[in-house]
Amino acid sequence: MSAHDHLWMHFSRMAAYADTAPPTIVRGEGAYIWDAHGKRYLDGLAGLFVVQVGHGRQELADAMAKQASELAYFPIWSYAHPSAIALAERLAGLAPGDLNRVFFTAGGSEAVESAWKLARSYFRKVGKPGKHKVISRQIAYHGTTMGALSITGIPALKQDFEPLVPSTFRVPNTNFYRRPEGAGDTPEEFGRWAADRIEEAIELEGPDTVAAVYLEPVQNAGGCFPPPPGYFERVREICDRHDVLLVSDEVICAFGRLGEYFGATRFGYQPDIITCAKGLTSGYIPLGAMIVSDRIAEPFLHGTSTFAHGITFGGHPVGAAVAMANLDLFEREDLNGHVRRNRDAFRSHLEKLYDLPIVGDVRGDGYFYGIELVKDKTTKETFSAEESERLLRGFLSKALFEAGLYCRADDRGDPVVQLAPPLICDESHFAEIESILRSVLSEAWSRL
Ligand SMILES: Cc1ncc(COP(=O)(O)O)c(C=O)c1O
Repeated sequence: MSAHDHLWMHFSRMAAYADTAPPTIVRGEGAYIWDAHGKRYLDGLAGLFVVQVGHGRQELADAMAKQASELAYFPIWSYAHPSAIALAERLAGLAPGDLNRVFFTAGGSEAVESAWKLARSYFRKVGKPGKHKVISRQIAYHGTTMGALSITGIPALKQDFEPLVPSTFRVPNTNFYRRPEGAGDTPEEFGRWAADRIEEAIELEGPDTVAAVYLEPVQNAGGCFPPPPGYFERVREICDRHDVLLVSDEVICAFGRLGEYFGATRFGYQPDIITCAKGLTSGYIPLGAMIVSDRIAEPFLHGTSTFAHGITFGGHPVGAAVAMANLDLFEREDLNGHVRRNRDAFRSHLEKLYDLPIVGDVRGDGYFYGIELVKDKTTKETFSAEESERLLRGFLSKALFEAGLYCRADDRGDPVVQLAPPLICDESHFAEIESILRSVLSEAWSRL
């Protein structure tokens, strides 16, 4: 069985597997996964920010089997099926404020892309056809299909595919650790500064042309940038002032990652649209959604009005049934409460790593953290491209995995190690994560 011959791995340097097989994961249970040689690893990334309830949950497999034997597939194009109806109602009940209308997709990029199409279509219907542009943040990842990729703010992921969908613009993110000079001394001042960059971009482009702002509650790429206090409040004011939709891209941050069903609830803001996927089914089967406010849905509910958009597998019955069973687990095991009760412990275990010379910043929220690695703690000097390549690709990812921790060493922004364990994790898992990170990061430092 050779992965190299036929399997095209995503975002991977295929040549790396010309002679050696990629790590092949064959089984999962709780917070742990096992490779083909029987070796066990702590899943410090919940697969890919996905497996909220942990691996090997029989009742999700049962829900899948039951739905597949009753009705494996039917579209939601002019027809409906009970799982999609029930899930839409449940999500409407969980989502903040008047986000009551659920459009299902099969994944996150599709949800992001659907929200842009909806924003454009909405503004046409309400007589503002010029509003079509999107503002998003530097280094933010919003997916890879052409529309979502255009919104993504990581140049290295885009350059091979230009020209992309026109009309997207970038503003600064909320990386307090690396805030530019003049961007405020306190988190509050910085939050105000960063939010005001959004208004500046809207005014520069012309409010009559801007349809939406896409923000994650905590930005993943770059290594977990939480919003400074007051940031989202200010963004909401700006969006209201210019009639721009606030899209909360919660493909990672929804479903317990931050201790709430939705990240917007965690930070107390009201989006016009939430996009989500991943944890909605804990990854047992693909499903995504955009959850839309009554105001934005309204023009589509009369006469011949239609949102001319759909996806064959959006709202797949098996996906919807698994999502229902997944949310049952959330309720029964109070997973959001569990994250809220344990998030300080997670943070303090990671913050203990500050005694290592290579750890510059520990940031994040809930069960979602990034650890930025630096060459010099005092000056915050980062690594050269060559050092970063040697450190992250050449050593860290492999060494962490060999030491029994699956997580991610990422250099889409400054070099970071990212952690987002399943939500069932507790103090014992945090201690294991800390101990593996401590020994591997110490070794990385000694190799510099
Ligand atoms: C914030 C955000 N938006 C969109 C996406 C794209 O989701 P998918 O990979 O399911 O298309 C991701 C994926 O990681 C994401 O993190």
